[in-house]
Amino acid sequence: MNTPTPSPPGHGPVQAEQDRFPIYTPEFAADPYAAYAHMRLLHGSLAPVLLHPGVPATLVIGYHTAVRILHAPEQFPADPRIWQQTVPAGCPVLPMLEHRPNALRSADEAHARYRAPNVDAIDNIHQHALQSTVQNIALPLINQICGAGRADLLTQYAHPLAFQGLNAILGCPPKIGQRVAAGMAAIFEGVNAEEGNAMLGQALAELVALKRHHPGMDITTDLLMHPVGLNDVEMLHQLVTLYGAGIEPLTNLIVNTLRLMLSDERYSGDLLRGSLSVRDALDELLFVDPPLANFCVSYPPAPVEVDGVLLPAHQPVVISMAACNNDPAIVSAYFSGNRSHLTWSAGPHACPAQSLAYLIAQVAIEQLVDALPEMELAIPVEKLTYRPGPFHRSLKDLPVKFRPTPPLALA
Ligand code: HEM
Repeated sequence: MNTPTPSPPGHGPVQAEQDRFPIYTPEFAADPYAAYAHMRLLHGSLAPVLLHPGVPATLVIGYHTAVRILHAPEQFPADPRIWQQTVPAGCPVLPMLEHRPNALRSADEAHARYRAPNVDAIDNIHQHALQSTVQNIALPLINQICGAGRADLLTQYAHPLAFQGLNAILGCPPKIGQRVAAGMAAIFEGVNAEEGNAMLGQALAELVALKRHHPGMDITTDLLMHPVGLNDVEMLHQLVTLYGAGIEPLTNLIVNTLRLMLSDERYSGDLLRGSLSVRDALDELLFVDPPLANFCVSYPPAPVEVDGVLLPAHQPVVISMAACNNDPAIVSAYFSGNRSHLTWSAGPHACPAQSLAYLIAQVAIEQLVDALPEMELAIPVEKLTYRPGPFHRSLKDLPVKFRPTPPLALA
């Protein structure tokens, strides 16, 4: 990688919009892996894509190229501020990509300032206590569905579990948590987004005030007490980021792993007799079908040549963890415990919550399959559909059926 003297661009500013792969469409969501293979055939390691009509980006689909980019933050900083001036207000990818005073969207000293308190606070979570917390969240959710004999595991299990899990590690009491949930749902659905944003801001400000006066053993308290001295605005953005970074990918990890276990004979049959464990399923899923498919966005401050392609300045470079993990150059048949995938990213922005997210997903899935071992998909796996969106790998629902069972005894 180097900054070139002008050379004929491969793709970049001159790439016509119709020659770019749209990665926001229902067609892409229906079979992204066929699209990645097609991109690889035409473009090698770097594919010209659209994140939304009129929003061009480069998608990195070669594993080794992605690793080099993720470890070169000077040439590929994560700060989007110059780029976002070129994007019309209201563009639906902006809320995911625009600048915030947080680690994800900052470079250099600002990144160090925000990453340190997050890493320290996340590392302070006790894994053993977290395991019981997740069990205590899972059992009442299972009890709400077990008598019915059918459920949608996305809306009735994985999503509420991920949300309550985040509330627990952030020390957010249910009353405030409900308003955080309502605010985030309004923003996400685009209905009353402004009202939702205000509700979210107010609820999180209350959480910060609460923890100032009543510190606890939780991430919010640790962020507040960290020596970098985050102010109220910065605190608010850390909390929004943690909820945002945590809930959606965690929900998708749980749901997509359950989809794998329920549709693959090696895991299913009857879940009790399946020969592979929940950890095997999680490791395989994390490798072959990452819940956050395309992310880790950077913006070269100057044109930069990579693999013979001139990438323009201030245009998003998006890492496709999904395509890179399935790059024929590295593909492996051994997933169990194999951590060479890019699902948690790599380099200075790598996810600081990997082991925490893994543990929550593992306990959530184990509790469910222990309680309902004969559970099966309520529709054929080919009928399941994915929500369109350039970043996530998110099922619309995961309907299952099982023999109705009485509620479990709660501790
Ligand atoms: C299955 C679940 C998860 C996946 C797949 C995941 C994946 C990732 C990835 C790929 C990044 C890098 C993003 C980038 O560079 O733009 C990241 C960063 C981050 N993640 Fe996670 N994550 C998960 C869960 C969580 C949870 C539960 C939390 C919080 C409790 C969390 C907190 C963060 C934070 C704070 C960063 C920013 C780090 C930085 O920029 O320095 N993640 N995550």
